[in-house]
Amino acid sequence: MLLVLLVPLDGGGAQAEDTGDPVRGGEIARRHCARCHVVDNRFGGIGSTPSFRILATVADSEARMRSFFARRPHPSFVRVPGVARWTDLPANATEITITPEQIEDLVAFTRTVAAKAKRN
Ligand code: HEC
Repeated sequence: MLLVLLVPLDGGGAQAEDTGDPVRGGEIARRHCARCHVVDNRFGGIGSTPSFRILATVADSEARMRSFFARRPHPSFVRVPGVARWTDLPANATEITITPEQIEDLVAFTRTVAAKAKRN
């Protein structure tokens, strides 16, 4: 899809500093992402969707997290204040709104998941 190519995947202006709170990030992940992603290896998740443990340990993990709203399948149901809507099509899943600050919290949470994955 051409639109995807025109928008930077660096978080679209989201802050790239280490300002996130991992505890808040975990709460956001459990509330909004666990519908599809396994967050704690305990509950939730859709079979074909990568777990947070995987998301946290892939190459470019933090860059992917900062731009997740621009990566399939999220553009159709994630809104980020200050970032243009991706499509005029109706959402294909319950819409969620995530702020740039919350994205930093998710990045911080992902870092703790990665640290834990390395220990195990
Ligand atoms: C409606 C289901 C759904 C919800 C809700 C959802 N995701 Fe995803 N996510 C997916 C699927 C499916 C994939 C795998 C896409 C693929 O492999 O093409 C994915 C992939 C990802 C990736 C990797 C993208 C890439 O290109 O590497 C990240 C990062 C991610 N999700 C973050 C999140 C975060 C953070 C939340 C919550 C704020 C969230 N997702 C909520 C379905 C969902």
